[in-house]
Amino acid sequence: MNVLLTGGTGYIGSHAAVALVELGHQVVLYDNLTNSSEAVVEKLEQVADQRMPFVKGDVRDTKFLIDALGDYSIDAVIHLAGLKAVSDSIKKPVDYYANNVQGTISLLQAMRAQQLKTLVFSSSATVYGHPRYLPLDESHPTCATNPYGRSKLQIEEMLRDVAASDPQSRIVCLRYFNPVGAHEGGLIGEKPNGVPSNLMPFIAQVAAGKRTELSVFGGDYPTPDGTGVRDYIHVMDLAEGHAAALSFLSQNVGWHAINLGKGKGYSVLELVRVFEKASGHQVPYTLVARRAGDVAACYSNPEKAFKLLNWAAKRTVEEMCASTWRLQQSVEIK
Ligand code: NAD
Ligand code: UFG
Repeated sequence: MNVLLTGGTGYIGSHAAVALVELGHQVVLYDNLTNSSEAVVEKLEQVADQRMPFVKGDVRDTKFLIDALGDYSIDAVIHLAGLKAVSDSIKKPVDYYANNVQGTISLLQAMRAQQLKTLVFSSSATVYGHPRYLPLDESHPTCATNPYGRSKLQIEEMLRDVAASDPQSRIVCLRYFNPVGAHEGGLIGEKPNGVPSNLMPFIAQVAAGKRTELSVFGGDYPTPDGTGVRDYIHVMDLAEGHAAALSFLSQNVGWHAINLGKGKGYSVLELVRVFEKASGHQVPYTLVARRAGDVAACYSNPEKAFKLLNWAAKRTVEEMCASTWRLQQSVEIK
């Protein structure tokens, strides 16, 4: 299949590209490089051992997108392009709606112009809001608590309307839990600029001696050790979930929301311990106040993905930490 990946040079897009190529798909990367670098393309070609066309473009540029879809005879789109920082979205909501929602409208218009019906969308567990029960299955009520989450929810709903309007539509919204880690080669992965806001890259920088200690946000949650619990999933497992979604869509029409998680929660302190072992370095930490907006625990019920996609996350939390550590030690990519 010829697959266009919007946001293809980003963290998840680059890993999805590797997974798709390994399964024999032809991949085209489409990205405006606001949060990635063209240098990723060369690394990707090295990892995948084949050429990967890159188109520098914005998803909001409908005309340009129509041409790209036509030029490469695209059969399906995986839509990862978007802005993703919750705190940033609260400060700049219009940017988030413009980029994420307007960007998706533009993509849908371009797909319609090329009579393309198959789409996999990068959604997030954030659409569940504060969990009413755990583990979170796909019938848990949705409720976003910030502009980023609302943009994801609005897109999901828009896509549901599109599927309802056209019986030939084939759409999967993948609700990612907490993607971490990197491809085993240590060439591609997420290296955040500035102070990382997510836990895993922060731990990695403390282990590497770039930061003195980790602030653990909250030690008084109703969890076994008092720290926040999340469903960490290896980014290569997540990447393979995209290939499984495409294969599912080759046999099925309609709109489907599917969790991509491991189904198991790890606390902050558990992750710290595993990382220390994987890296051989200490990760000093201090317990500080809870971070506003955080929930105590969030983890998935991954059964639907197994049933529909025949996919399950198989890599361990040890592999997540080890690959993050390898990347931390490798060359800068951004
Ligand atoms: P990322 O920032 O590394 O990748 C996103 C890519 O999209 C970047 O390369 C960026 O340059 C590009 N982009 C942004 N706006 C664009 C536009 N208008 N036109 C073209 N390209 C554009 O982020 P990621 O972690 O790889 O996330 C990919 C997707 O997955 C996002 O939609 C994000 O919301 C979603 N998601 C991520 C996580 C996570 O924890 N990483 C969790 C849930 C959902
Ligand atoms: N944490 C710390 N110290 C840090 C960073 C995080 O203790 O320096 C804790 C958090 O309080 C939380 C856990 O580590 O308990 C995980 O935090 P992350 O920021 O890594 O991830 P979140 O679960 O908060 O958020 C992630 C994405 C969001 C997405 C959400 C649900 O960053 O974009 O998962 O999918 F919305």
